[in-house]
Amino acid sequence: MAETLTIFHGTFVHSTKEEDMAIHNDMVIGVRRGKIIFIEDDTRLPDLMSEYSVPLENVRHLEKWQFLIPGLVDTHIHAPQYAFAGSNMDLQLYDWLKTYTYPTEAKFKDLTYAMDVYTKVVDRTLRNGTTTACYFATLHRDATNLLCEVIEKAGQRAYVGKVNLDCCSPSYYRETTEESLEETKKFIESTISKKNPLVTPIITPRFIVTCSEELLSSLGQLREQYQLPVQTHVLETRGDVDPETSNHLNVWDRTGLLKHNTVLAHCVYMSDEEFDLLKQRGSGIAHCPNSNITLRSGFLDVRHVLEKGCKIGLGTDVSGGYSSSMLDALRSASQVSKTIAIQREERGENYKILTYKELFRLATLGGSEVMGLDKTIGNFQVGKDFDAIVVDPLVENSPFDVFSTDTFLDIIQKFLFLGGDRNMIDIFVAGTRASGR
Ligand code: GUN
Ligand code: FE
Repeated sequence: MAETLTIFHGTFVHSTKEEDMAIHNDMVIGVRRGKIIFIEDDTRLPDLMSEYSVPLENVRHLEKWQFLIPGLVDTHIHAPQYAFAGSNMDLQLYDWLKTYTYPTEAKFKDLTYAMDVYTKVVDRTLRNGTTTACYFATLHRDATNLLCEVIEKAGQRAYVGKVNLDCCSPSYYRETTEESLEETKKFIESTISKKNPLVTPIITPRFIVTCSEELLSSLGQLREQYQLPVQTHVLETRGDVDPETSNHLNVWDRTGLLKHNTVLAHCVYMSDEEFDLLKQRGSGIAHCPNSNITLRSGFLDVRHVLEKGCKIGLGTDVSGGYSSSMLDALRSASQVSKTIAIQREERGENYKILTYKELFRLATLGGSEVMGLDKTIGNFQVGKDFDAIVVDPLVENSPFDVFSTDTFLDIIQKFLFLGGDRNMIDIFVAGTRASGR
């Protein structure tokens, strides 16, 4: 049987190693078996169609003002917490965990409830352009397996973690060290055995407070054995800073959990020594600005992180962050950057705010780097998977307006700052349409 090849014809916008935002007009992108097999100037369209025997109906001509962007990468999201996203926003982290979060997560013992929430969070994030998500589930293996099934059915790309906690959480939401390891191992094996290239298990010790060092060391061994990614929360609040040490990452390092595909959420209170170690190990930061404001945790200085040369992407941190949209994460990152600028300017200092092009990079290529997936996704390159969003700025009931005086760059900015799921008329993961209007 002839392999079907699809051609997308029009403008695409993406980030590269060299450029935060590159715009390519009048291009054709060929996609076969989920992968990009050519990117050429559209003058070559007739030749390419005959060379690959592409029927007319397999050529998608984007309309005027429509453009393609890479799928958005949410580097940090708690799938069960979607149940209360947009509510319970009055408390700071530790009270918020105790009052709302642990009680909600404990409910995922009930698979009917889990199915309802997980179906909705995956649908919502996909519709908002999150083609790749790095999920925390709960400590329940069954419900976490269910999350994987829901993701697989929806066609999203994801890392999924069964959460590990063996101390200092309420007794109704805690495991013994042995249980935690045993259940994690079973979860990893069953997930790997499904051989879905889009869904990968991730080692997920919740944070230092709820994990014994014995558990961390054993998880480090599991990571080594299965060569898996790792995710956790680090230095999120001022209270997490232990004045006894200048290096909070040492414990992650010595337990074998600080690797090239380790995703550290927050890192708001990191020292330069810690940034240096992070960079050396090739681990990345999930910047979650909505959460950092909503839980009143603090402001991460992304400019400093970029100057230190560390990998960084954006996370919604649902539901510490109230919005499951990566466009919201981008906007919140912009507001945090400007808040820091106001503080610095009050002290007579200059501060270089994040540009919209840098923010776009964080939401796409930056996220893929943090997850160690930048050889597979993050931008449009021959050999990478086609994870993409067709953006239509003129869609009916668009949340923003386009005027005759607008340049294409104006329209991209309006989409980033005012656009929404309505503008994402088609969403592809590995070449397959996963969502759209
Ligand atoms: N630290 C430990 N658990 C959590 C969580 O669920 N959300 C956030 N934002 N921080 C955490
Ligand atoms: Fe979190």
